[in-house]
Amino acid sequence: MNEYDSERIGELLAASHGLQLVDDPARADVLVLNTCSIREKAEDKVYTQLGFWRPFKESRPEVIIAVGGCVASQEGESLRRRAPFVDIVFGPQTLHRLADMLDACRAQRQPQVDLRFPELEKFDRLPQRPGREGPTAFVTVQEGCDKFCTFCVVPHTRGREFSRPMPDILREVRQLVDQGVREVTLLGQNVNAYRGATGLIGEGDLAELLERLARIPGLLRLRYTTSHPNNLDDRLIAAHRDIPILAAHLHLPVQSGSDRILRRMHRKHSVASYLDKIARLRAARSDIRISSDFIVGFPGETDADFAATLELIEAVRFDQSFSFKYSPRPNTPALKLKDSVPEGVKDERLAILQGRIHGLARAYSEALVGTVQDVLVTGPSRRDPCEWTGKTSCNRSVNFAGPANLSGQMLPIRITAALANSLRGEWEPSAAVRRAG
Ligand code: 5AD
Ligand code: SF4
Repeated sequence: MNEYDSERIGELLAASHGLQLVDDPARADVLVLNTCSIREKAEDKVYTQLGFWRPFKESRPEVIIAVGGCVASQEGESLRRRAPFVDIVFGPQTLHRLADMLDACRAQRQPQVDLRFPELEKFDRLPQRPGREGPTAFVTVQEGCDKFCTFCVVPHTRGREFSRPMPDILREVRQLVDQGVREVTLLGQNVNAYRGATGLIGEGDLAELLERLARIPGLLRLRYTTSHPNNLDDRLIAAHRDIPILAAHLHLPVQSGSDRILRRMHRKHSVASYLDKIARLRAARSDIRISSDFIVGFPGETDADFAATLELIEAVRFDQSFSFKYSPRPNTPALKLKDSVPEGVKDERLAILQGRIHGLARAYSEALVGTVQDVLVTGPSRRDPCEWTGKTSCNRSVNFAGPANLSGQMLPIRITAALANSLRGEWEPSAAVRRAG
């Protein structure tokens, strides 16, 4: 989500002020820091980064420093008290106002702060995306969250659930496909809670949006992230069976494998209901890979609770996942629970969990060796510019040799080796991909 917002900030300032990206911050006229407050570590990085930028402003006072995103939303005016040299503070929902704020800041020589939640306005005001290149793109379709998990700042920093109307999304994706985009990832904090105006009568869900997008000629692959288990309903499960361009991978965070901890987290689902959804998803599409987010060391987590999480990991056999130590966040209900798990125990649990997930991910990669996968070529390989890099449907990077220019093509690639973070393969033009699902 932040990556998408950052890309759009760049596009917006290019359109409004003709600004171009530079590699060296010392050469920039405008420095924009897009921030994340999901964990304390991410938030601390904001002030460290601002400390690095401060000398640029001191030597060239006309430099403008802007801070946007969730830390801005959470800290508000107090961000300027801690870092008074910041000129502009804008929230995740007001990034479209950045161009006007820049003008106002320069004209009035006054700092500008705008942290409102005007929802749709942001999408209406963002420029079209003519300068974008590359075969993959993110498109935000939903923002905000009404779930209020007890550990999470998102409902407080991003606001309530909100969905963009389908006609706007269809228009944006058609335009991206015309520009050469072949894979679109639909984004939202709770993307499968999507309920947007259909443009005809009433509202439609994510399954309907995916069906309509899948009909766009030239679009070869669709993904969506991040989902909540409770919004994975029968219609969405059926979409995984019926829409061939929907990727064979779903990120479905479970956070913990203990019902007691899930209740304390206010997740509103149980381990059994999660397992039931996974079973139905796999019945609909047998080759689907599931990844998750996990929090270890949530207040009150015992050895038995953690053992239950490891059991769930074995039962689901998760693919590459994200895991974090619990980090107390401002304004969240979990702050009232005693942060009872010692730091050392959190570290230990995290290492065990990550080791297990890593082992499973590795086994999945090795199982791909010898198979032929549909690989969407995303561009030249970073390591070796004579090679190409692409992504499998299950979201693995593959490097292979091939002639120029293959970018944007979906090719049958035979996987020849599984490395730590990527796969190697060979282009087999005559091979057909056999789908298990
Ligand atoms: N501490 C640790 N991890 C957190 N996450 C969200 N809030 C916290 C927190 N306070 C993790 C969750 C979520 C992911 C985006 O970040 O696992 O799914
Ligand atoms: Fe945060 Fe996700 Fe829970 Fe919403 S559903 S409160 S975004 S963890």
